[in-house]
Amino acid sequence: MPEIAPSILAADFANLQRDVEMLNASEADYIHVDIMDGMFVPNISFGIPVCEAIHKHARKPLDVHLMIEQPDRYLEAFSKAGAWGLTVHYEACPHLHSTVQHIRQLGVQPGVAINPHTPVDVLSEILSDLSLVLVMSVNPGFGGQKFIENTYKKVSALKALKEKFGYDFKIEVDGGVNLDNATSLIQNGADILVAGSFVFGSVNPAETIANLKNK
Ligand code: DX5
Ligand code: ZN
Repeated sequence: MPEIAPSILAADFANLQRDVEMLNASEADYIHVDIMDGMFVPNISFGIPVCEAIHKHARKPLDVHLMIEQPDRYLEAFSKAGAWGLTVHYEACPHLHSTVQHIRQLGVQPGVAINPHTPVDVLSEILSDLSLVLVMSVNPGFGGQKFIENTYKKVSALKALKEKFGYDFKIEVDGGVNLDNATSLIQNGADILVAGSFVFGSVNPAETIANLKNK
């Protein structure tokens, strides 16, 4: 059974507490929190105070996805704002090993995300240090985009590395996830599915989360 991380980016920001409480009562395993800086990605979402506000009401761990340049500057702030996991982008971190150690020192689960064009091989020397690898299945920056089919190949390559070397990181897929691609993603080795618009755009988001979970 996969773990489900609904993305709060697709929630109604004027009713954030209501939507967080809906997630608390649902079968969601995490709340995925998308931080965008308008530099690493061409969009701005929200920042530390909003993360803190979500944390105040959340009864699920916050899976914080940093789509920002120089994320080292903000690791401590997001840790204090309630992050359970902090995922940085490979493409934004020239000193990735140091960034990952820093996240661990803060007592937070370290994750690394890779963009659609980034091969999984570039992570070979860091995989043993990670709790999570996030495979972007759309170009980061916006919810509601179309799933990129090449993702399956990347997920199964990661799964093969996990098995070969006995690593225990989880594989998370983010972008365009829905009931049509969930089964193949799980079969290829995905452990955590992020879903934003598919959950929040549905008539009954809690039921949609349960449907994804029971795939
Ligand atoms: C995209 C974000 C995703 C996004 C997913 O840059 O990282 O987490 O919220 O949204 P959907 O599920 O709508 O593609
Ligand atoms: Zn995300």
